[in-house]
Amino acid sequence: MDYLQLKGSQSLSGEIKISGAKNASLPLIAMTILAKNNVKISNLPHVADINTLLKLLSNLGASCEKTNDDMLIDTSKLHETKATYDIVKTMRASILVLGPLLARFGKCEVSLPGGCAIGQRPVDLHLKALEQMGANIEIKSGYIEATASNGLKGCDIIFDKITVTGTANIVMAAALASGVTTITNAAREPEVVQLCEILNESGINIKGIGTAILTIVGTDRKLIDIVGFSVIPDRIEAGTYLCAGAITNSKLTITNTNPSHLGSVLAKLEEMGFSIESTKDTITIHPTSEIKPVRIITQEYPAFPTDMQAQFMALATQANGVSIIEERLFENRFMHVSELQRMGADISLNGHTATINGKSNLSATDVMATDLRASSALILAALVADGTTDVHRIYHLDRGYDSLDKKLQNVGVDIVRLSE
Ligand code: UD1
Repeated sequence: MDYLQLKGSQSLSGEIKISGAKNASLPLIAMTILAKNNVKISNLPHVADINTLLKLLSNLGASCEKTNDDMLIDTSKLHETKATYDIVKTMRASILVLGPLLARFGKCEVSLPGGCAIGQRPVDLHLKALEQMGANIEIKSGYIEATASNGLKGCDIIFDKITVTGTANIVMAAALASGVTTITNAAREPEVVQLCEILNESGINIKGIGTAILTIVGTDRKLIDIVGFSVIPDRIEAGTYLCAGAITNSKLTITNTNPSHLGSVLAKLEEMGFSIESTKDTITIHPTSEIKPVRIITQEYPAFPTDMQAQFMALATQANGVSIIEERLFENRFMHVSELQRMGADISLNGHTATINGKSNLSATDVMATDLRASSALILAALVADGTTDVHRIYHLDRGYDSLDKKLQNVGVDIVRLSE
């Protein structure tokens, strides 16, 4: 098993190029199930989660061919409709094949994803919406068995809670349903917006893109010609590297990014005293004379993303004063706290709220990653810790960060990937 070893007390300089967004790529790959053509996708990130979904599609009979930097996905010979436990257990987002498979074949089986490190993460809202669209759903032996022999029917769906993959799943199901589906309380994340835009460009009439109410006119099971596209830049990867610049109080430029997707993150960095310069596709963070404490509440887009919570907690350990971070989306997303404490951070937890008393002098030690974003918080803390930190269980990191060690090396970080 690999681990990362990095030296602390470092100053960074230079540029980091951001990869395509993992969370945009996953629904976009699942979307190819709706296509009758060979779909060309550019700017997919090189991360484990993408390989997992491509493997799932290959198991179903799709061909996934890599050409230069593009991926060609042909689902015309798809013959299997069962997403098995061995794949779904490694990545919850596999649930994204449920909507498109059911819409195309009128039946499918998808293993229940189960819990994960950051909380229970049920899929009840996905299932309830599909039932409203006429699906019959049974849970048998750990599998969601869904049937809709006469196809899915458009209807009015009101999500009780905003769900990102839930919205994506139902948009894809609605694309091949008969009639009109309206989704109220839809997720407005840029990743959902891109999915809707590509479907729209491919002939599916979707209104309200980027708003909380989406209206989708379905094709009644007619497969569509999906246009080639390039995946949007990863806003969480960009935010993480901006935090690397911030925590080391360095000047750092992020390229191939979209600053308009990072509004709440940039606002918090500015509140903490950093000045930010943006162009259409770059962001530069400048050092500050004093890192100020911050108050953060994680909520759905466009509010502050839960996927940036752990990184800002690492950053808050270096602020002068008391920061408060409230996690509103996932019940167990504070697993990084105990590892940060082991490095010397002064953090107390009360339910969903963390109080970080800065500034702490962090010291290097062996730490263990517990989930994807928690891993990046530990890397950030290690950048300013006194000594050399070994970050273990980085398979979590490899799920979502494209070449993190190489990208950090390029801006001057002394970091190596080693084997246990
Ligand atoms: C997506 C992102 C993840 C991010 C999260 C919140 C992907 C692949 N993953 O996850 O990185 O942290 O959005 O921004 O895009 N819920 C239910 N029932 C459901 C579905 C969700 O109760 O059927 C709850 C969840 O437990 C959670 C909240 O709704 O409390 C939001 O979850 P959701 O938006 O669905 O997260 P994901 O789509 O799984």
